[in-house]
Amino acid sequence: MKNIVVFLGAPGAGKGTAAAAVAARTGARHVSTGAMLRDAVARGTPAGLEAKSYMEAGGLVPDEVLYRMIAELLAATPDPATLFFDGFPRNEAQAAKLDELAAASGATVSSALLLDVSREALLERLGGRRVCPKCGAGYHVKALPPKVEGVCDACGAALVTRVDDQPATIARRLEVYESATAPVIGFYEKAGKLRRVDASGTAEEVAALVEKAVS
Ligand code: AP5
Repeated sequence: MKNIVVFLGAPGAGKGTAAAAVAARTGARHVSTGAMLRDAVARGTPAGLEAKSYMEAGGLVPDEVLYRMIAELLAATPDPATLFFDGFPRNEAQAAKLDELAAASGATVSSALLLDVSREALLERLGGRRVCPKCGAGYHVKALPPKVEGVCDACGAALVTRVDDQPATIARRLEVYESATAPVIGFYEKAGKLRRVDASGTAEEVAALVEKAVS
């Protein structure tokens, strides 16, 4: 059986940071659709070529691109497995489609965790984010700095700022979250699967709350 836990929250809420930390501790698999798409863009695959302009503008990539990625991922994942979905679903159509794709591959969406944090904290987190272009590790200049400034602890590559972390693009991503993604909260609330997690603490505190919520 495959068990899917959906991570919900605004851009910068810390979904990726918490999902990666708890996955490393529990043996779950962290599935970030943003990371998969950035990899597809970097490799110039057909999905990447289609996604690039939407991502750079802070909009959502067309649903069909995501459905192909998720269907392939579920088909290629052997049982048993726990999957942390970070970034999918991102609108109500995707949420309904996930139930369909999960059922077709013998998987269940067991819960959806909403990482709750103030807008002020989101802006602070996104503004200071640095990422490793080689291995995907994430950092923050103040909250989660690397041991050597500008250098990835895990693989030694030079850290970069994501192209969609420019102030105008951040503002657009937050608008898209409010209009398209926030309704997904109601989808899981109605299904009795929503769990709210206070994500205002340190990365370690948030990971501990998430681990408790998924255990
Ligand atoms: P994606 O990569 O999913 O971006 P996002 O949802 O905007 O989320 P972020 O990665 O910005 O934030 P996060 O919550 O993971 O925060 P993080 O842990 O990094 O998607 C990018 C794009 O891809 C989308 O805009 C869209 O175009 C496309 N896309 C992806 N999925 C799609 C879909 N399903 N449909 C259509 N399009 C799709 O943390 C942020 C910063 O804060 C880091 O610096 C971190 O170190 C720091 N931090 C984390 N936790 C804490 C803490 N507790 N205290 C202090 N700092 C913290």
